[in-house]
Amino acid sequence: MTTEPVSIPSLTTRKRRHGAPPIVMVTAYDEPSARIVDQAGVDVVLVGDSVANNVLGYEDTLQVTIDDMERHVAAVARAKVTCVIVGDMPWMSYHLSVPDAVGNAARLIRAGAQAVKLEGGLSRVPVVEALVRAEIPVMGHLGLTPQSVLTMGGYRVQARSAAAATALIEAAKALQGAGCFSIVLEGIPDVVAEAVTASLEIPTIGIGAGPSCDGQVLVFHDLVGLGARKPPKFVRQYAQLAAAATAAVAAFARDVRSGAFPGDEETYHASAEVAMALGGGESATN
Ligand code: KIV
Repeated sequence: MTTEPVSIPSLTTRKRRHGAPPIVMVTAYDEPSARIVDQAGVDVVLVGDSVANNVLGYEDTLQVTIDDMERHVAAVARAKVTCVIVGDMPWMSYHLSVPDAVGNAARLIRAGAQAVKLEGGLSRVPVVEALVRAEIPVMGHLGLTPQSVLTMGGYRVQARSAAAATALIEAAKALQGAGCFSIVLEGIPDVVAEAVTASLEIPTIGIGAGPSCDGQVLVFHDLVGLGARKPPKFVRQYAQLAAAATAAVAAFARDVRSGAFPGDEETYHASAEVAMALGGGESATN
């Protein structure tokens, strides 16, 4: 954990090959989870469009709108976190025109994000340049980009061939040239992530991209075991909160049905005088 406050400029130079500690990024979509990840000491909280699958019950991220993302960024910002907040640009918020993209990114910044993230390579360069000109820091995202699920034909590991790996390295360099301060690498072989990381001056943050990246990101719900589905291979689960929460609610249901809840200690009492006036027995004030 770093002791200096994290900022976009401090992240821009966080390369492990220069001796910097790895960047820790975790998603959060609401005030309680933002508070938890901030208190745990992460560097960056990503308000990811994966809110679609993890909170809103959608099958993919294509359903999430800029209105949704603005609301979730604002909820995370209300946690008054000390880590950097990155807001994910949802599908169709940066695909129609450059001015539209800048306007939508500004909505996430005004909601409390310090930077935005968007998916894609060479075709995103004009958007990234415009955002940077508008003083909006941009995190890139390459490899398995979930907003491309239809064109990828599913969630598949990317850049498996030498040609695709070379193209990914070129895309990463182009994003760096356009002004990105970091790049998420998702779902690519470890050696490809290692080559991308070595070829850049800005940090890479991996998810399913092996150990050579300059940082790692996981989805909060996967990490703490809140998801409904079996998590992908690259996830390490550090808790089983869904199971713990189910057991807690089941215990409550049992206690209500047996009459064990509420007990005396969970009950407000009136004075003996009031209880008497109501025709009841003795009762302590509490
Ligand atoms: O939305 C998200 O959770 C992401 C991470 C997978 C990087 O983009």
